[in-house]
Amino acid sequence: MRIGVFCSGGDAPGMNSCVRAVVRAGVTAGHEIVGIQRGYQGLLDEDFFVNCEDQPHMKLRSVSDWGRHGGTFLRSSRSDEFRTEAGLRKASGILEQQKIAALIPIGGDGTFNGAVALAKHWNGQIVGCPGTIDNDLMGTDFTIGFSTAVRTAVSAVDKIRDTAESHERMFLIEVMGRHSGFIAVYTAIAGQAECVCIPETNNNVEKIVADIERLKKRGKSSIMMIVAEGDEDGGAELLAQKLAAANCPFSTRAVILGHLQRGGSPTPEDRILGSQLGRWAVAALDNGATGGMIGNIGDQEVFTPFEETFATHKPIPNHLLEIIDTLAH
Ligand code: F6P
Repeated sequence: MRIGVFCSGGDAPGMNSCVRAVVRAGVTAGHEIVGIQRGYQGLLDEDFFVNCEDQPHMKLRSVSDWGRHGGTFLRSSRSDEFRTEAGLRKASGILEQQKIAALIPIGGDGTFNGAVALAKHWNGQIVGCPGTIDNDLMGTDFTIGFSTAVRTAVSAVDKIRDTAESHERMFLIEVMGRHSGFIAVYTAIAGQAECVCIPETNNNVEKIVADIERLKKRGKSSIMMIVAEGDEDGGAELLAQKLAAANCPFSTRAVILGHLQRGGSPTPEDRILGSQLGRWAVAALDNGATGGMIGNIGDQEVFTPFEETFATHKPIPNHLLEIIDTLAH
């Protein structure tokens, strides 16, 4: 059958591995793989990947060496047009006209929301792969891109610690995660941070300052605080001002890591996850699956309906937060 594959929403390192796996597994199983460029918007614009013979489908060699590169060669976008009824009807018409019988969207909650909406207008099969640095989807232990984003953030924290120690300062380092603290918590543990502020927990500025005073008395000469961008206090800059106003005993600086976290060569973990999920998605389509995401839980393939991947907030395990508190001495 003709299977369309695309990346949508924020790009994530490892997406290229996933597309490579879809193409290699799909072509080997006898399918024709259409690479849709620029996500849902590219579908509406009929922006298809063209192979070296000028044909609008991907060959085994089209994805040679893709796995070690960050970003997404198919490109990505966030489409407003696709969210409209007219956009969904247009997309459905294009899929029928192109004889595409199945789709593999690689993305996060917005992408899967789009898949649910499309399924109301189109009766092809849809099996998604979780691709977002945020790791905020239920139905998989980890999402493609999370491992690389954490590695990048930790490497930044290590560098900032050097200057923090030299100047005996406190740094508030803002990492991505609009609604989720996963990147912040993993970065905090691996980066040996003293505290973490995430959307899932409430901050108490006075308590934070009291804790920092205690740490200073114990001889701490620098403090690293990891702040998720979606933290309720409004991010690292605002939180730094609030701490200063509450007489924080260290001079503070805020650093926003931003889109740096979305780039870079994927870690082996993200390459492996992308390869596994891409291959599993093709097999799931072959087995007749539709309307959900293929995830990896405990190294096992798990299929979860799209709605369940984003309807509930993926909880941060409490024991991870406890590690940060216990080790900040
Ligand atoms: O969802 C992935 C993500 O990187 C979030 O962590 C971040 O808040 C958002 O995308 C940024 O999106 P954009 O690149 O569109 O500004």
